[in-house]
Amino acid sequence: MGRLEPASIPRHVAIIPDGNGRWAESRGLARNEGHSRGTEVVREIVRAAHELGIKQLTIYAFSMENWDRPQDEIDAIMGLLSRYIRHETDELEKNGVRVQTIGRLDMLSPKLQRAIRGLEKRTAGNDEMLLIFALSYSGRSELVDAMRGIAREVESGRLDPEAIEEKDIREHLYAPDLPDPDLLIRTGVEHRISNFMLWQLAYTELWITDALWPDFTKRDLVDAIHAYQQRERRFGRTGAQVRKGS
Ligand code: IPE
Ligand code: IPE
Ligand code: MG
Repeated sequence: MGRLEPASIPRHVAIIPDGNGRWAESRGLARNEGHSRGTEVVREIVRAAHELGIKQLTIYAFSMENWDRPQDEIDAIMGLLSRYIRHETDELEKNGVRVQTIGRLDMLSPKLQRAIRGLEKRTAGNDEMLLIFALSYSGRSELVDAMRGIAREVESGRLDPEAIEEKDIREHLYAPDLPDPDLLIRTGVEHRISNFMLWQLAYTELWITDALWPDFTKRDLVDAIHAYQQRERRFGRTGAQVRKGS
């Protein structure tokens, strides 16, 4: 692990893997070639994260807004997802990786939904690392769905509106038990959140790189964690308070 401090590996790392299309276009290739290479990198980075001792890894694989892309690009991405599931299940299983998904999965084809449910079921007993794919996901939709759940509880009399607290919102998120990301990595130049985990990122450390996702390597992941380990997470307190541990 080299210069990394094993005691302070971020527990939950979230990734916005952006730049597949630009990577392909800059080589005169079709955008789908970028998605194909990007899927390979997902495979490599999942393995690397496991080796580095990351316990939870969330990857933003497809946003709600990505449904507005050309249909042939959507079809190619969905095909790659199916292939990923077919090819990776054995290795994920062998490495003790549990897979979960967050997002509006009912928008995916029934066949892909079945494949995802199958992968989740097969890996449900694993506890080495939790791998979460945000699929057909949007942070605002997640909050809308949470609000609907809360409204139903209020309507049925189980919840008093005056008693609603942050924990009630958290309990209605897609993965209520998942701790907030400690570190968010975004590849591909842009400094934005693009509707990812709006509730959960409140105090997450951000690390953004110009590297396009198909060029991202374990070395970059180590760099991101190294930068994270230099940060002082103050959560609104003063540096002196944090260093005193109060
Ligand atoms: C990220 O790469 C992958 C998905 C959004 C599915 P892009 O396809 O957004 O690549 P760029 O940003 O156009 O380069
Ligand atoms: C973010 O990338 C979503 C994923 C990586 C799945 P986008 O390419 O969709 O984001 P914008 O459009 O640049 O904000
Ligand atoms: Mg993009």
